[in-house]
Amino acid sequence: MNQRVVDVSQDARARAHIDEAKYQAWYEASIRDPEAFWREHGKRIDWFTPYAKVKETTFGPGDVSIKWFSDGVTNAAHNCIDRHLAARGNQVAIIWEGDDPSESRHITYRELHAEVCRMANVLRNRGVSKGDRVTIYLPMIPEAAFAMLACARLGAIHSVVFGGFSPDSLAGRIQGCDSKLVITADEGLRGGRKVPLKANVDAAIQRLPADSVDHVIVVRRTGGAVEMDPVRDVYYDAAAAQVTDECPVTHVEAEHPLFLLYTSGSTGQPKGVVHTTGGYLVYASMTHQYVFDYHEGDIYWCTADVGWVTGHSYILYGPLANGATTLMFEGIPTYPSISRFWEVVDKHKVNIFYTAPTAIRSLMGAGEEPVKKTSRKSLRVLGSVGEPINPEAWEWYYRVVGDQRCPIVDTWWQTETGGILITPLPGATPLKPGSATRPFFGVKPVVVDSDNKVLDGACEGNLCIDDSWPGQMRTVWGDHERFVQTYFSTFPGRYFSGDGCRRDADGYYWITGRVDDVINVSGHRMGTAEVESSLVAHPKVSEAAVVGYPHDIKGQGIYAYVTLMQGEEPSDALRKELVAWVRKDIGPIASPDLIQFAPGLPKTRSGKIMRRILRKIAEDEFSSLGDTSTLAEPAVVDDLIENRQNRT
Ligand code: PRX
Repeated sequence: MNQRVVDVSQDARARAHIDEAKYQAWYEASIRDPEAFWREHGKRIDWFTPYAKVKETTFGPGDVSIKWFSDGVTNAAHNCIDRHLAARGNQVAIIWEGDDPSESRHITYRELHAEVCRMANVLRNRGVSKGDRVTIYLPMIPEAAFAMLACARLGAIHSVVFGGFSPDSLAGRIQGCDSKLVITADEGLRGGRKVPLKANVDAAIQRLPADSVDHVIVVRRTGGAVEMDPVRDVYYDAAAAQVTDECPVTHVEAEHPLFLLYTSGSTGQPKGVVHTTGGYLVYASMTHQYVFDYHEGDIYWCTADVGWVTGHSYILYGPLANGATTLMFEGIPTYPSISRFWEVVDKHKVNIFYTAPTAIRSLMGAGEEPVKKTSRKSLRVLGSVGEPINPEAWEWYYRVVGDQRCPIVDTWWQTETGGILITPLPGATPLKPGSATRPFFGVKPVVVDSDNKVLDGACEGNLCIDDSWPGQMRTVWGDHERFVQTYFSTFPGRYFSGDGCRRDADGYYWITGRVDDVINVSGHRMGTAEVESSLVAHPKVSEAAVVGYPHDIKGQGIYAYVTLMQGEEPSDALRKELVAWVRKDIGPIASPDLIQFAPGLPKTRSGKIMRRILRKIAEDEFSSLGDTSTLAEPAVVDDLIENRQNRT
């Protein structure tokens, strides 16, 4: 275990909102009396009707119900825009940096107000009102922020679908929440390459019943030629020219849904995670302020895509609720040069920088020079999210990117949690490379064994959370039973994260990765079942089993064992065909890295695939396969080992 401890720097402590004593005092208070703690901190956002109720939550067993501030009335767009106009109307809210370094935009809070109102009016004119679902399939352009906030303004519920998902995946997500309106762009632009977003929307809609989608709004990004249905489709600029830039805010109850976000789980199709308005915004803004030690005037940059929860909470809602300047980047870390991240940091004098370990690992490969040739003097805090950061990558981030000046906040959380749950605070927490360290205020982590027994002190087991926090998801869209089953049934009475972790003698948490059938590829979550069902849909495939394996840059890679239909011959060409098949079916992030053709899969006598064995072989650790005596046909294992794809 890496035992290095990086103490809190004088600088970080001097400027921080929270030092160690305050962390201890607040944390203790938040656990002793959550009701009083959140009654106070709920006031950080504006309420049209103040709440009297604070915490009404139960994790079962039996009923699971989560409500925060339920009799309060508010609006997220008001909190992210309108309430700032008087004091900081002319301050930049969003810095947009294009894929091409010659393109950038600065949007003030006043301009943001006008843009969001316009977009809201365009939506309203097409019948969108409180509670309606709107699907957003946009690249990283300011209109993505306008669209999300326009929905919030109207009390409509946005469902952002990552631009890398295929037409099929998009279709499932449009249908899953029954949205009648889709906002997209002609094409996206990433690393100089075009992404055919509108064509994907057309293909998605073709797969749906005829009356599914009434309107498609198309933002012009590249100006590329796209097909436009004269009744259904409209260019955003044309529609926006018809409306004013004033639109009243819809008052919504705290528990009114703000957005849905589809995410992968260990079984079945992706589920619509529901986040509501009041508690989510309180939690996103509070974590943004304290975890990044955000101060007025800071330039803050989170490199995530708005298609993921990190983009929702920490590009948009958290920073804007705090009146921050948030940077939105359209491109990729390596275009046009491998120094791009650091050039953007210098260009916009970024103070707080938040990215994923996979990006750090991919840049490490090119050495220090592309980083060192930039200044990065403005940087003060560095953040990491999405997957465990290995100590080597942590040290490189700390030493090379941050010049050993900047604390690294390794933030552990999930789509379901709405905001960061376990994390250092820059001015309070001594850091250990590779550890997400300690819980945020109000968060009660517990480590349990497989019998739901709580483990004490230094230990390793399953990471659960024992009580609710305001940013927690409330339900699965349209399927509350699935919510209860997925998160509260494995360890009754607790929220189960699906992650394993170790806690050391100092009470620090070390996330070890998923313990369920979810893999984390470059910080993106993928259910093995989804990739399997895509593979078996191929006419030549009879059976498939998918597991993760360690990958130097992506963290985990996708390893697929495929059994072919009788009479089909394995070949490299077929391997390529299957990779392309999954890519087209789900999206590039689901492409298998390795495919092994297997005449048979290891199964128990009752026919259950023994994934433990498949995982071990994929990890190239087949000498420790454990007990194989329960297998129906032990010989298949020898063949799997002999033909494994990852020999080192
Ligand atoms: O396994 C954990 C990993 O990412 C999962 C959540 O994925 P998603 O819902 O897509 O959200 C990603 C961004 C919040 C978790 O179950 N994970 C996330 N952050 C960390 C992490 N693993 C280790 N360390 C982290 N800091």
